[in-house]
Amino acid sequence: MSNSSKSKETFSRTVIFVFVICLICAALVSIAASSLKPLQKANKLLDQHTKILEAAGLSDVAAKNGVDATFEKFVMPKFIDLASGSFTTGDHAIYDERSDSRDVAKSSAVKDRGVGLRRRANKAVIYLVKNDQGHIDSAVLPIVGMGLWDIMYGYIGLEANLNTVKRVVYYELKETPGLGAEVQNPKWKALWKGKEMFDKNHNIAIEIVKGGMANCKTNKIYCVDALSGATLTSRGVNRTIHFWLGDEGYGPFIAKFGGKLNNGELN
Ligand SMILES: Cc1cc2nc3c(=O)[nH]c(=O)nc-3n(C[C@H](O)[C@H](O)[C@H](O)COP(=O)(O)O)c2cc1C
Repeated sequence: MSNSSKSKETFSRTVIFVFVICLICAALVSIAASSLKPLQKANKLLDQHTKILEAAGLSDVAAKNGVDATFEKFVMPKFIDLASGSFTTGDHAIYDERSDSRDVAKSSAVKDRGVGLRRRANKAVIYLVKNDQGHIDSAVLPIVGMGLWDIMYGYIGLEANLNTVKRVVYYELKETPGLGAEVQNPKWKALWKGKEMFDKNHNIAIEIVKGGMANCKTNKIYCVDALSGATLTSRGVNRTIHFWLGDEGYGPFIAKFGGKLNNGELN
């Protein structure tokens, strides 16, 4: 056998070897990706439930009794029709509000208030949370709106009067660590507890104020100190909350059920 045919044979074998290895690797990656999907989905759901329980002020109970057991025992996911504020039907387990908000048949155009939303889904899943006696103790409302860099997703936890804040929890955002991402800092989150969203005339009163509470022009119960060095993210949070508490968000639901939920009135 000549030297050239020897080297030809070695080259083609190398190519076949590389090709086979590539095929095996691609197959392994796609098997891993598809077999990990259910685990990723379960982890996402666990994270969502953890954040909902946090917004309802039940983190300690969840830490003691487990997230799944606590969610199962206390949380009732409910569909609402945002325009009327009434409860409606749907399967929350498969509902995807993000996909509905892009579907013109299942969403409505909204006014641009700097929240970064052009449309919002017609339905929303909210979470009514019971206490040990089985009475509704709080409601957790999903919120979404622009920060400085991108859309941020979170929950507002309100007491059953649908006015007093339990927690404001963001769970998905692309703000800068140490600046806008401080919305997730427990110290900032703690500032929200006990604040009131609406004044006595039922107007949205909550404001994130820059430069400390001395700049609160109304009443301290309606003011939250802005994040220092992250005024733009804070402004985004303020606009987002105003949007979702307003007429195009949960306003009709809050007008209908504020002060009634803890009596168990769900009609
Ligand atoms: C690299 C970089 C990242 C920043 N990230 C954020 C952010 O996530 N959120 C924010 O509000 N401001 C961010 N800022 C600062 C804003 O540009 C702006 O200065 C700030 O919001 C003003 O807040 P202050 O008035 O409290 O200083 C960032 C600035 C730089 C240079």
